[in-house]
Amino acid sequence: MNDEQLIAAARAAALKAYAPYSNFSVGCAILGADGQVVTGANMENACFRLGVCAEISALTAAQASFGLANIARIAVAGGDGSGAALAGASTVTPCGGCRQSILEAAQLSGRDVEILCASGDGTQFDRHRIYDLIPHGFGPANLTDAG
Ligand code: THU
Repeated sequence: MNDEQLIAAARAAALKAYAPYSNFSVGCAILGADGQVVTGANMENACFRLGVCAEISALTAAQASFGLANIARIAVAGGDGSGAALAGASTVTPCGGCRQSILEAAQLSGRDVEILCASGDGTQFDRHRIYDLIPHGFGPANLTDAG
């Protein structure tokens, strides 16, 4: 699956967001090492702090489908999801909490997972690696000295 296809899957997933409070729809598509793609979208709540990000939604689907250790690449896109297609000119990077959760999968997989951060309209994207987005992150290896 090429970059454009993975971003298209993320943009399509964003249209399934439940985001009535922010009106900011985010979609995430995760490619597994076996070629499978799973997606997720943000899901907000009237109790605002309980909202779930698109990346967490997609990571949960990835774990259910092929396992976090088999995550190969990720695409994220966000913007105005009120129309027939996701709109918006600015690229979206994962929030800090989502970076932490992607790092967990990256450390399980042994891959410096690539993340395509796309604009809502899909016309531009930035290519990042999780170890650049969360340098010196805390992961499973940091628990080796637990009692
Ligand atoms: N959001 C995501 O789904 N992923 C991110 O990485 C950034 C933010 C969602 C959370 C909330 O529903 C909306 O975008 C506005 O912050």
